[in-house]
Amino acid sequence: MSKPEILVTRPVFPDVLERLAQHFEVDANQNDRILTEEELAQRLHGKAGAFTTPTERVTARVIAANPHLKAVCNMAVGYNNIDVDAATRAGVIVTNTPDVLNETTADFAWALLLATARRVTEAEHILRAGKWDRWRFDTLLGADVHGSTLGIIGMGRIGQAIARRSTGFDMRVIYHNRSRLSQELEARANHARYVSRDELLCSADHVLLALPYSPESHHAIGAAELALMKRTATLVNIARGGIVDDAALIAALRAGRIAGAGLDVFENEPAFNPGFLDLSNVVLTPHIASASEPTRRAMANCAADNLIAALTGGNPPNILNPRIQSGK
Ligand code: GLV
Repeated sequence: MSKPEILVTRPVFPDVLERLAQHFEVDANQNDRILTEEELAQRLHGKAGAFTTPTERVTARVIAANPHLKAVCNMAVGYNNIDVDAATRAGVIVTNTPDVLNETTADFAWALLLATARRVTEAEHILRAGKWDRWRFDTLLGADVHGSTLGIIGMGRIGQAIARRSTGFDMRVIYHNRSRLSQELEARANHARYVSRDELLCSADHVLLALPYSPESHHAIGAAELALMKRTATLVNIARGGIVDDAALIAALRAGRIAGAGLDVFENEPAFNPGFLDLSNVVLTPHIASASEPTRRAMANCAADNLIAALTGGNPPNILNPRIQSGK
């Protein structure tokens, strides 16, 4: 019997490709060019599955153009690049890679928080530019992290992992989420206290965004929200571009409305609002919060597990549209 055909949309670990090749005829896009919507629709013709990454847009058009498609397995926990409703209507299974990246992403959130509050990259730039000539009492004064109040917006598994790490810094944690956590989960998350979004913005010393992107969370942090924050506060976004209104954030940082921002994600990335580059009070990284070697490997294998299960009659462990029993 011939193997089902799949498309792997971007380069991935060679051993994961080999694993996939044991089950499938693999068309691997190895030249590392992001396929446009049109190219993706074409390249999927006749394929039963797609192994995707956050850079491809699996739109309703892509899905409609490929009636043989049975599964789209994304190598990411976020899946705002996939039209899950259109997939569900078309009987296409969609999966993501939750959990395997929680701890690594939480580590990175802390790296950004500490670097932003203590102005680490700004300091390094000064040093590298040969502009450091002496110790001074007021060189690059930052904000304390220990003993401060951490406000987490989006208290899913990553948010909780971030909160757990705050015990060592002797911090208070407040959070806002679509729904309140159980008392047990709150206790494990350094006794996090549920507050309204506005109370969080007004009282946190460090505001950390860990919520999923959706039309409802588009520009959840804009000029009005930034205006509520303390002037000394920092903002960290490890979630998705588009949750923050980047133009409003640049204006707030320029005006000293808040002290700093640590950003791993951007609106329309990898395009980038050049306004950030003129600011010294930002720490900027290119969407790498989950990028440790073991975690990216675990994510790739998790996406492969989902695809193998979806196309061989098994139950994909991370199905996002469980109503589907793909009868295709
Ligand atoms: C990465 O951004 C992910 O959603 O896993």
